[in-house]
Amino acid sequence: MSAVHEVAPVVDAAHAEPYATRDEYAGAIGRIRSAAEAYYAGADLVMDDAAYDALLARVAATESAQPGWAASDSPTTTVAAGIAGGDVEHSTPMLSLDNVFDGDELASWAARLERVLGRPANGYTVEPKIDGMAVAARYVDGRLSQVATRGDGRAGEDVTVNARLVAGLPAELARPVTVEVRGEVFMTDADFERANELRTGHGGTAFANPRSAAAGTLRAQDRAYDAPLSFFAYAVHDLPGGEGLFHSAAMAAIADLGVATTAGPMAAITEPGVTATTTPTAATTDPEATTTSSPPAGMPLCATIDDVLAAIESLGAARGSLGFDIDGAVVKADDPADRDRAGFSSRAPRWAVAYKFPADTRTSRLVGIEVQVGRTGVITPVAVLEPVQVGGVVVTSATLHNFDDLVRRDVRVGDAVFVRRAGDVIPEITGALLDARPDGATAFMPPQVCPRCGGEIDRSQKRWRCVRGRACGAEESLAYFAARDSMDIEGLGDKVIAGLVRAGLVTDPADLYDLDAESLAQLERLGRTSAAKLVATIQGSKTQPLSRVLTGLGVRMTGRSMSRRLARHFGTMPALQAATVDDLQRVDGVGPERAATIAAELAELAPVIAKLTARGLTMSEPELPTRPAAPGSAEALEAPRLPLQREDGSPMTVVVTGSVPGLSRTEGNEAVERLGGKSSGSVSKRTDLVVVGDGAGSKATKAEELGIPCMPAEEFATLLAQLTAVRLG
Ligand code: IVH
Repeated sequence: MSAVHEVAPVVDAAHAEPYATRDEYAGAIGRIRSAAEAYYAGADLVMDDAAYDALLARVAATESAQPGWAASDSPTTTVAAGIAGGDVEHSTPMLSLDNVFDGDELASWAARLERVLGRPANGYTVEPKIDGMAVAARYVDGRLSQVATRGDGRAGEDVTVNARLVAGLPAELARPVTVEVRGEVFMTDADFERANELRTGHGGTAFANPRSAAAGTLRAQDRAYDAPLSFFAYAVHDLPGGEGLFHSAAMAAIADLGVATTAGPMAAITEPGVTATTTPTAATTDPEATTTSSPPAGMPLCATIDDVLAAIESLGAARGSLGFDIDGAVVKADDPADRDRAGFSSRAPRWAVAYKFPADTRTSRLVGIEVQVGRTGVITPVAVLEPVQVGGVVVTSATLHNFDDLVRRDVRVGDAVFVRRAGDVIPEITGALLDARPDGATAFMPPQVCPRCGGEIDRSQKRWRCVRGRACGAEESLAYFAARDSMDIEGLGDKVIAGLVRAGLVTDPADLYDLDAESLAQLERLGRTSAAKLVATIQGSKTQPLSRVLTGLGVRMTGRSMSRRLARHFGTMPALQAATVDDLQRVDGVGPERAATIAAELAELAPVIAKLTARGLTMSEPELPTRPAAPGSAEALEAPRLPLQREDGSPMTVVVTGSVPGLSRTEGNEAVERLGGKSSGSVSKRTDLVVVGDGAGSKATKAEELGIPCMPAEEFATLLAQLTAVRLG
């Protein structure tokens, strides 16, 4: 198999660009074929899904622009051209599916189907598109007799031996029926992790992703270990008495026989308003359980394409929490009469279509490996990547988990690597394209000493740790906590902090609140009076608002203004800690990646937060003097307006530049928010007002150029004083 590597930008398949020359067209077909060969063979991927789809779309676009060039065995017209078949001939060809990528394309597909039928389809089903390996399983008198891979679509490879222990594909059906079920063999995320542990424990290399793990395991000749596999059926052939059954009913019938079906995962996520069938299913990773009866489940039945889209959206939203990989949804006409009428093209049915989700695995170039030391002294390798879109988010760095894993996977700087971002989790590198390694790629040398403090490394666990644990890096985090923009503890400078850490008096910010003047006075060059004063300042900082505590804790991906936004939104630390990743995304400026990081950071900081709470810190954010009502609402229009609120109650975007008398930069921004505005760091067309103080530079000039109103800092200070007076009065 030739090594092919594509690092492709995301391409809108509907608007793909035709190739300019016949050679380029032929080259693309060659690359598609090599990638498809590797894909169906279950070898580690040579191209990610999005790159494959993009190439295919360009080949299709070229064929419509230049029909004369079209190759007779083009991958647009034949199933998996060039892929080796096997010995087991399929009862009917195992076809592929056409893809759509958005609602408009789905609507066009439905309109085409409607044209062919001469009327709207009699209902659609929606099910997950499982990212695994297609198989056809034959049961004779209720016993599993033969399982074959898809192969070239006409004949596949016999994998009966390895398929015997697949969860969801019972060795014996509930009744002695002779039938063929088709579906996808896959590996759940949990089993994938376990399979890799087993495999690397046996001296092998880790699988790059669950799909290659499933394919590799299913096709392995001799397995030295067991890696659990699962199965979901998506079609049934020759079901006795099943002629004329709707798809949803046929799925229910085989679920009743004990086979797991794609209806299972839909049960929990079916949208209200969409009817769900009550399909029993046996979806589980426990092979024992597959022969017993199973809980009811539902495959959404949709009357219109709008209902279909709603069901697809629900599935997309649940994608990260299913526990296995899906790469889209499959929409099918439910009525067999519709199917017969619509028929097939040479490679795919016209009555079904795959709605592809944004790929959760992409390839990118690894430009560096950084070593990070966490708050607790955990040392982790982090990948620095060429920016790549994964699951709709631009990813520039990803975790490489741990050093053992990195060495085992033999990932090197310069390699093309697989970047996976499943659901809300932090992006990870699952492997490198070893075949496509560039010449200069150098092996990574794990650090010999802690890169932060130079101390020894404890390598006894998978996660390496600096032997100094929390004390490593304590000075940096304490200085950040005490800084003027955080808890503003005057007198707690670098020297005092270094002395405190050295004396073992303080390792985390909460320890500061246990200090007394006596122990402080033992530090070099700190007199009794200064010690007493410092203790008072530290104690006084307990009333600082939540936003400053958050800033001081140094939650990754949150600076001062994001800390304020989080604090205002949730009000108290317990509310913030209870927020889910979805809740966090409701805060202005928090996207999926940031939300996942914040949630992970808060979980890691939980012990320190608990200690701070026990020391009596306020941990809440004072409410704004007037709680802003929803912009545009009747309350907002009637409520007394704050100076920096627009007429509809929404906040003006305000930039403070230069110094405002009596206020630090953070205090200036806090003041903007207290006056009803939203502070921003840069001037643009969307800025409503610029507060100009002493020493203002380019921002003031830009505001003038753009004609944005400016307010002298003194006037701003007066406004603030008036508001404070009103509040006190
Ligand atoms: S229906 C005649 N349903 O996707 C077409 N396929 O890209 C039968 N797949 O070859 C396919 N989940 O291996 C169908 N719920 C699902 C599926 C599914 C995954 C796979 C299948 C197919 C490929 C097409």
